[in-house]
Amino acid sequence: MTDFDLRVLPMRSLLLAAGCLAACLPALAGAWTESAAGLPPKPARLGLCAACHGETGMAQIPGAPNLAGQRLDYLRAALRHYRDGSRDVPLMRTAIGPVSDAELDELARWYSAQAPAAAGQP
Ligand code: HEC
Repeated sequence: MTDFDLRVLPMRSLLLAAGCLAACLPALAGAWTESAAGLPPKPARLGLCAACHGETGMAQIPGAPNLAGQRLDYLRAALRHYRDGSRDVPLMRTAIGPVSDAELDELARWYSAQAPAAAGQP
């Protein structure tokens, strides 16, 4: 499922994501209260993830997987594996960083609660 070669992912994507983190966070903070009924609260770290996975879990760059509606236990496990290095993908290891269990759980819940039907929407 994720058997593509990460080395072909342009370094630019990472830089872009880092740039977006700085640029988008204030904007995202403004949109904090918009969260639709029934959705978990928007995780504070979502801005970085959104650069590649989209805010609603629909991928924004080639090579990034859609996360919307993915099973909660799967997302949680995947993030733990990136964090502890057992899933050794430098891109995602850098992106997830040393998050706490609570933050990790928030991110997994957020993406799991999104509707994949939003595919194709900006
Ligand atoms: C620079 C782009 C980028 C950023 C930023 C990023 N990701 Fe990823 N993410 C990827 C790529 C590429 C993969 C596929 C990696 C692999 O093959 O394991 C991935 C994989 C994942 C997976 C596993 C999906 C699966 O089907 O196994 C999860 C979960 C995930 N990312 C969540 C996040 C979260 C949460 C954040 C924010 C903390 C984040 N990502 C930030 C690019 C990114």
